[in-house]
Amino acid sequence: TSAFLGALLVSYLLGSVPFGFTLAKLLRGVDIRTIGSGNIGATNAMRVLGKPLGIVAFLLDFAKGAVPAAVIAPLAVPPDQVGVAAVLCGLAAVLGHVFPIYLRFKGGKAVATGCGVVVAIDPVVFLISGLVWLLLWGTTRMVALASIGLGLALPITAGLRAGSGGAELTLFCVGLCLLILVRHRSNIRRMIAGTEPRGGHKPPGSD
Ligand code: G3P
Repeated sequence: TSAFLGALLVSYLLGSVPFGFTLAKLLRGVDIRTIGSGNIGATNAMRVLGKPLGIVAFLLDFAKGAVPAAVIAPLAVPPDQVGVAAVLCGLAAVLGHVFPIYLRFKGGKAVATGCGVVVAIDPVVFLISGLVWLLLWGTTRMVALASIGLGLALPITAGLRAGSGGAELTLFCVGLCLLILVRHRSNIRRMIAGTEPRGGHKPPGSD
């Protein structure tokens, strides 16, 4: 239906809003793409903005995944189709974050926005995968390694749970995992070379 197509478009446009990039530009006058990892996401925003505002950037990127799945999709389709619509609107938001129309389609690594989608559909899958993130962050201090671990945990947890998200959430998580892996390929190369920075929230040069 046209309401559903409109919901997909709105979700993509919302997902496209680069909050990390915008906050760094507005508050520090810095183009985040020239700093740290060059990524537009919350981790790199934290390098420029410090921890509290970096967390704000994370929450905003997270919300732009959660809102399409939890609010926009249910507005657009009948109740019996909300499950599938939530996943597809969430996917549109993640694709917006990774390929944002406002930044010539050069966007982020899908972690915060993808987690927002997952929490809206099945919070348990997010909580378990989030624990994997915390464990890896706590032991290695590498955000990218923690994010990759979370990316792998998502489809495994979703598949084992067969919870409120059903098969469509598992499929979404498989796709999200692949996207997270592909978008972290520069981090993976640095990890292999032993040059991936630890303590991701610190500004460059302060380690
Ligand atoms: O979510 C992105 C994070 O895993 C890595 O970010 O800036 O260190 O490449 P960054």
